[in-house]
Amino acid sequence: MKIERLARKGILKIASYVPGKSIEEVERELGKKRWVKLASNENLLGPSPKALEAIRKELPNIHLYPEGPCTILRQVLAEKFSLPERRVVISNGVDNIILLIASAFVNEGDEVVMADPTFPVYTNVTQIMGGRVVKVRLKDFTHDLDGMLRRVTRKTKVVFICNPNNPTGTIVTQRAFDRFLSRIPDHGIVVLDEAYRDFNEDPSCPNGLDYIKKRAQVIVLRTFSKVYGLAGLRIGYALGREDLIDCLYQVRDPFPVHRLAQVAAIAALNDTGHAIRSIQVVCEGRRYLYKELERMGLSYVPSQANFIFIDLKRDSEEAFRSFLEEGVIIRPGKIWGYPTFARVTIGRMKDNERFIKALKKVVKQRR
Ligand SMILES: Cc1ncc(COP(=O)(O)O)c(C=O)c1O
Repeated sequence: MKIERLARKGILKIASYVPGKSIEEVERELGKKRWVKLASNENLLGPSPKALEAIRKELPNIHLYPEGPCTILRQVLAEKFSLPERRVVISNGVDNIILLIASAFVNEGDEVVMADPTFPVYTNVTQIMGGRVVKVRLKDFTHDLDGMLRRVTRKTKVVFICNPNNPTGTIVTQRAFDRFLSRIPDHGIVVLDEAYRDFNEDPSCPNGLDYIKKRAQVIVLRTFSKVYGLAGLRIGYALGREDLIDCLYQVRDPFPVHRLAQVAAIAALNDTGHAIRSIQVVCEGRRYLYKELERMGLSYVPSQANFIFIDLKRDSEEAFRSFLEEGVIIRPGKIWGYPTFARVTIGRMKDNERFIKALKKVVKQRR
């Protein structure tokens, strides 16, 4: 039988997610080099040494299934946020939790509102469930909350707000978010993706936890992939009202998070020194990059995340290839509709300096 008839309706038309190029991938194409990857907003300080130690200790137990609900980590997070455990769900990355949200709440034909551009996984999961993606263009690189409200209808089920937004690094303010939330009808769930919130320095940024405490119809997403440096282990979590979180458990795999990720996450949470250093590195790097970019006359979007969206003033796919010649992997902006922009992860000072050195060469080649 033809695959079109075998596959669920619509899934063959879904554009697959295009991740940043991995070091392994560019090495296969271009050979060994001292590569620096600034394409996926990882933590360039690496994982916490305490997390590595916890993994070493846990290794002899990997023949045993992990605890399904991640019992200890769940307790640790519940205590950290002063919430009942039932209001925490942990899974193999926020990517997976976004899929759980769509699986639990989006019926065929339901509308899911999101910014354009924003994190592309919101689109993928909506399409998988047969929902309708409603995209609202950013205004000044920031969520246009009024524009999003205008697109909310009787069919709206979920609204995704990525704060800070990927790929622009901009935030919605608490005032704007409060106003927005007060106007969302109660058949809509607001998902506040705070994957990058730890790097925010703007006091007007809302804290998702406040809305969870108020029992608002909000789900907050957080990850161990960024500030905690555990992207390769795949672990993230959501906070929300019991009834919402229970629904995510209804559709979750029984054992999505392996033993090594669970113990590493607990150790990383306890290593506040490493987390603080990671944040400092990003904040210092951001200031350094702003200064250098201004010196070069290049415009960028001021960011509250561990990346910067920069206008290279040339085709960024071409620039991407030139950067590869310099051993630097960046993320070209075409997939987000900004063909001259690149999203660049902020690394350690030596990584940032390498990027600027490469950028100076790449910009010179501009035609
Ligand atoms: C906004 C946003 N949310 C979620 C994720 C995915 O997080 P995780 O690594 O926990 O799946 C990313 C990853 O880059 C992201 O940019």
